[in-house]
Amino acid sequence: MAHKIEMQICLGSSCFSRGNRDVVAYIREYLRKNHLEDKIIFRGARCMNRCSNGPNLRINERTIEDVTLSKIENILEQEFGTIK
Ligand code: FES
Repeated sequence: MAHKIEMQICLGSSCFSRGNRDVVAYIREYLRKNHLEDKIIFRGARCMNRCSNGPNLRINERTIEDVTLSKIENILEQEFGTIK
């Protein structure tokens, strides 16, 4: 793949306290397990100014809203299932 994928998770206080605290750990583990750490740049971001739709995750320029621990596996599989 030519370009790395950039994934940012909102760690602003609203998203963080409403679930992203745990989702961060889940994503880190997912990337490690699936050997995706060199293909996907993953980092925390400040408040994305969409708190009421959060918790938020951004993949490249696209924002995924209402992320939860129960949904994150499906989201990651949908996004990255074909490249792992
Ligand atoms: S804290 Fe995540 S959008 Fe504001």
